[in-house]
Amino acid sequence: MINIIGLGPGNLDYTTKIGENLIYKSEVLIGGKRNLDSIKNFRGSKIELNSNLKEVLEYINSNKEKQISVIASGDPSIYGIGRYLSQNIDKKDLNIVSGISSLQYIFSKIYIDMNDLYITSSHGKIPDFDYILSHKKVCMVTDDKIGPKEISLEIINRNLNKTIVVGENLSYLDEKITVGRPEDILKIEKFDMNVVVILDEK
Ligand SMILES: C[S@@+](CC[C@H](N)C(=O)[O-])C[C@H]1O[C@@H](n2cnc3c(N)ncnc32)[C@H](O)[C@@H]1O
Repeated sequence: MINIIGLGPGNLDYTTKIGENLIYKSEVLIGGKRNLDSIKNFRGSKIELNSNLKEVLEYINSNKEKQISVIASGDPSIYGIGRYLSQNIDKKDLNIVSGISSLQYIFSKIYIDMNDLYITSSHGKIPDFDYILSHKKVCMVTDDKIGPKEISLEIINRNLNKTIVVGENLSYLDEKITVGRPEDILKIEKFDMNVVVILDEK
């Protein structure tokens, strides 16, 4: 069986019990370095996922008799590895275990519901900001090319009244949540790994 397990936003206290049990019962653990390093005292073997996704998929598909767990940050079905693997592994061999997404986590921290939320990502693409900013409530996972400052500029260029929330290193000890107008966000020198919430001003 192949498990794809969401670890939650980072701090392992947010990993589900069912996910944790499956991880420690696995013979092989596959994941990015940060995630693999976070699983201590694992007795099986670990395979690091980097730019070797195709090879790892081949390994998984030819070792289906093994108990393999692929670990992913947040929820694997939200801009994670869940999509690729479920498109390329027979569903009868696959078990996906949700985790708490960084998106869910930030909304609980700012006491705002996620109803009617538009979820998007800037990873590896040029976002359609006209479309994105037409929504009242947006949450974006970002990369190092398009993050809080670039989003703020897009808002300023369109003369829109929006509040921005930047959640950095969520659930870790150095977690930081910044709330401000786009002009305030531009004044901040740099941001660590973050999700950005964009809200219509009331
Ligand atoms: C490939 S996406 C994975 C999203 C993940 N599946 C989820 O549900 O949170 C990676 C992006 O998620 C966001 N992210 C993940 N964990 C985070 C955390 N602890 N703090 C802030 N942002 C995080 C960042 O935007 C990061 O670039």
